[in-house]
Amino acid sequence: MSEQTIRPAKEEIDFPVVELLTGRGFITGKSGSGKSNTTGVILEQLLEQNFPFLIVDTEGEYYGLKEEYEILHVGADESCDVRIGKEHTGKIIDLALEKNLPIVLDVSGYLSDDDAKDIVGSVVKGLFDKEKKMKKPFLLVIEECHEYIPEQMKLDDCGQAIIKVAKRGRKRGLGVLGISQRPADVKKDFITQANYKIWHNLDWDTDLNVVRRVIGKDSVDTVKELETGEVLIDADFLDGLQKVSFKERETFHAGQTPDLSDFETPDLKSVSSDLVDELQQITKEKEEEKDRISELEEELEKKNKEIENLEERINDLKDHNSFAERFVSAIEHEVGDEEREEITQEIENAKRTSLNQEVLEKLDQILEKISSPEQRAVEQEQRETEKKEENMAEQNILDNEEFVEELSRIASSSNASKKALISTASYLENNKGTQKEIANFSGYSDTTAVSKAVKSLRDAGLIEKVGNRNRKGVYALADDAITEIDSRVKSRERAKKLQDRV
Ligand SMILES: Nc1ncnc2c1ncn2[C@@H]1O[C@H](COP(=O)(O)OP(=O)(O)OP(=O)(O)O)[C@@H](O)[C@H]1O
Ligand SMILES: [Mg+2]
Repeated sequence: MSEQTIRPAKEEIDFPVVELLTGRGFITGKSGSGKSNTTGVILEQLLEQNFPFLIVDTEGEYYGLKEEYEILHVGADESCDVRIGKEHTGKIIDLALEKNLPIVLDVSGYLSDDDAKDIVGSVVKGLFDKEKKMKKPFLLVIEECHEYIPEQMKLDDCGQAIIKVAKRGRKRGLGVLGISQRPADVKKDFITQANYKIWHNLDWDTDLNVVRRVIGKDSVDTVKELETGEVLIDADFLDGLQKVSFKERETFHAGQTPDLSDFETPDLKSVSSDLVDELQQITKEKEEEKDRISELEEELEKKNKEIENLEERINDLKDHNSFAERFVSAIEHEVGDEEREEITQEIENAKRTSLNQEVLEKLDQILEKISSPEQRAVEQEQRETEKKEENMAEQNILDNEEFVEELSRIASSSNASKKALISTASYLENNKGTQKEIANFSGYSDTTAVSKAVKSLRDAGLIEKVGNRNRKGVYALADDAITEIDSRVKSRERAKKLQDRV
């Protein structure tokens, strides 16, 4: 390779391939001065001799090389052979260095400059790393290089990787060629230390200052006068500055201002479909990975929601727990009135919230347990009275043994019959009535027996006259008949006990 040369200029000047592939180059000139054409001619001639390169194409103007050569065109839009992302970097580098495959990395389709730089940076780093072992002559070409290695700004990762290649790539066989329409905007060291510099026409003062500084003030006027395709070359491999005219590209120049009348894309050579499949497999895997990730993210979100709910429940339970602990301490220890009131209030509040029946009953039990002793006594008494009243209301006086016994006693100590006494008392228990009505109820044909019974019962204080109807007395059971008997029984018992003692 050391003797191999190309002749991209109309003049018969040899450009040593090894210098181009492994050295550092810089092509500049204002817009339309012919930089891309010059680059294209150099690349065509390298391709002609099967030397590989990778060009970072910012404008999508190099895929026309496919008209003649087998090149892999990768990038972000459909016009590319394969749409790639950072995950393809390794494969791309393998293809370039191991399979000798020339590559156009078209960054014009990436959504953001950052996306583009991300991928360019990763490719440049990958090439540099792999070349450490491979040491294969390989050219990295970067269009609009001021975007990546700017003079005025701090270098990002991608810029630093390019500068590393510029400084240390040569030993590994990795050369770099930067192209820019604004030499003033390109990192100064990159230009001054380039092994070959190709100057097209420039007319901005700041850019001409670079010409003055780098190749001398005598060249400024020449550079200002250069025609399209004409250049001044300043190269290690040439004797002094040379003014030459570059040939015109043979393949289709996609960056050319389109001639609208008959613009037609030529047939392009394509790389093997196996190779494209291999790259697309990476895309597929990446997409599957993405799907899996979003699936997992969804699952994670669900789990997080569940955790959130459980945490909420735990907090509720903690609340209930501290609530319950206070009940327990309230039950176990004497609580002060103030605390009792507070807890009672809390329980009442809890009862109002949606607790089930069982819990409500428990809460009532707790309420009862923590109520004050006085209050408990009052409530107990209240409950007992209620119960007594209930019993009394239900009891039939003839079921009351003491009452019946009392009637027997009355019968034996008066002229009233026991039968008349019982039927009179039992009628009057539920009714008010005259002697006639009592006789009818009892089945007596006249009122004699009833009148005797009424008299005896009135004497005993068990019934009373409550009014008159048709000049006849109306009788009813005395309100306190039962209690009266009760107390009579008790005093009799007391008297008996006294007699026994005596
Ligand atoms: N050596 C040449 N012979 C014939 N035509 C040329 C030559 N160099 C450039 N041209 C033509 O000049 C026009 C501009 O060239 P080119 O696109 O290479 O310019 P550029 O410097 O890359 O511009 P930009 O900075 O806008 O990319 C193109 O139509 C191209 O075909
Ligand atoms: Mg260009």
